[in-house]
Amino acid sequence: MNENLIKAAKIGFASQFTFYLKAAFFHWNVEGINFQELHALFETIYTEVYGTVDEFAEKIRTLGGYAPGSNSRFNVLSTIEDETQVLPAEQMIQELLNDADHMVIVLKKVYDMAEEAGEHGFSNFLAERMDAFRKHAWMLRATAK
Ligand SMILES: [Fe+2]
Repeated sequence: MNENLIKAAKIGFASQFTFYLKAAFFHWNVEGINFQELHALFETIYTEVYGTVDEFAEKIRTLGGYAPGSNSRFNVLSTIEDETQVLPAEQMIQELLNDADHMVIVLKKVYDMAEEAGEHGFSNFLAERMDAFRKHAWMLRATAK
């Protein structure tokens, strides 16, 4: 059991969960002339991210760790900053874009540790997550222009 890898995996997992929650929060509360487009864009993103939450948790179990699943643990572990304010639409796009870029960096650290540990099933999963967050960043960046 690789304690350092499990710890890093929990940080990546909690960060992804917080990212999911923020994208859903923005989906629910976005306002403005581009409401329909942004409402749909945030839904596309949170649906994709949420769709891999269960697999991510079970990867942590496979490594021998316990998957966090409470708000207080997510608050401690997540590297994505919690958002409580309903922001103007442009700020929602910019913040989620910054977070998507950040997710790639956070997951790359876990990826490198998984590769080092010979956990190639997990690193393959993380490579796919990094690709997905790069795609989310692209869509948000293109929307922000
Ligand atoms: Fe909805």
